[in-house]
Amino acid sequence: MDKQLQGRVAIVTGASSGFGRGIAVRFARAGASVVIADLVEETAPGNFDERPELSTAALIRELGGQALFAKCDVSRKNDVEAATSEAIAAFGRLDILVNNAGVWRGMTPFHESSEADFDACFNVIVKGTFHASRAALNIFIAQQSGVIVNIVSTAGLRVYPLQLAYNSAKHAQIGMTRSLALEYGPSGVRVNAICPTGMKTSMNRQAFETPAISEMVERSRPLGRWGEIDEVSEVALFLASDAASFVHGSIIPVDGGELLGQPHRPAPR
Ligand SMILES: NC(=O)c1ccc[n+]([C@@H]2O[C@H](COP(=O)([O-])OP(=O)(O)OC[C@H]3O[C@@H](n4cnc5c(N)ncnc54)[C@H](O)[C@@H]3O)[C@@H](O)[C@H]2O)c1
Repeated sequence: MDKQLQGRVAIVTGASSGFGRGIAVRFARAGASVVIADLVEETAPGNFDERPELSTAALIRELGGQALFAKCDVSRKNDVEAATSEAIAAFGRLDILVNNAGVWRGMTPFHESSEADFDACFNVIVKGTFHASRAALNIFIAQQSGVIVNIVSTAGLRVYPLQLAYNSAKHAQIGMTRSLALEYGPSGVRVNAICPTGMKTSMNRQAFETPAISEMVERSRPLGRWGEIDEVSEVALFLASDAASFVHGSIIPVDGGELLGQPHRPAPR
């Protein structure tokens, strides 16, 4: 059995659906106790999920692991601090924080976009990372150990059309990852980021199910396909575990090679 996280306690934000759910379940399978910090307990309809009727905490418990749901809006300091306290109260310690909660507000020309969409991206992605990292760091510094994994996006390393707010918030999250790594490495805290490209979560279900868009997406990646949630959670597990003990301040794309550029594909004869 792979029990790389046996005895560890993790908070995963936005873990009711998508990548967060996949990461929480993978961590629990590796032996961690997991706090699911999310606005809602139910998993989002439209996820590519085998057990959508079960909340993430219920699924982990069914698998024999330990988990609890903490209702939490990551953009609110008090909610995040309460979720952190719940983790300590329930499991006695905190070792890992995954800043995963995020929102995407679709594609709109910047001059027509709304301040509300801009605020949503920055409040959840940037401020959420700010609040949760601060709450966890207070514990990590005292114990001189801890791991932060930020789930960013290829939108933090390149830009996509018609989504200035999301691109900008993700670029900021890269800056936060690198700044935190520089500042807290000396305190024994490792900080890294994963940059997935658009993958099979509810966020992208519509694109995945629209053949013209789906094929365009596939052509844009050297590996020529959509990625799966597990392909992100395995990297998160690696970064959270001792196997990555000297990996620090790294920004790891999980993108099928998209950042390399579009490959040449000869037209079919
Ligand atoms: N899906 C992709 O293709 C993709 C690609 C690159 C990066 N990402 C990033 O990965 C992360 C997860 O995306 P996903 O596709 O799994 O999304 P998702 O929509 O499937 O799940 C997001 C989860 O976050 C929760 N959430 C939203 N706002 C929150 C808040 N204020 N406080 C707490 N929880 C909140 C939602 O309730 C939901 O459970 C996001 O940061 C996203 O930007 C996604």
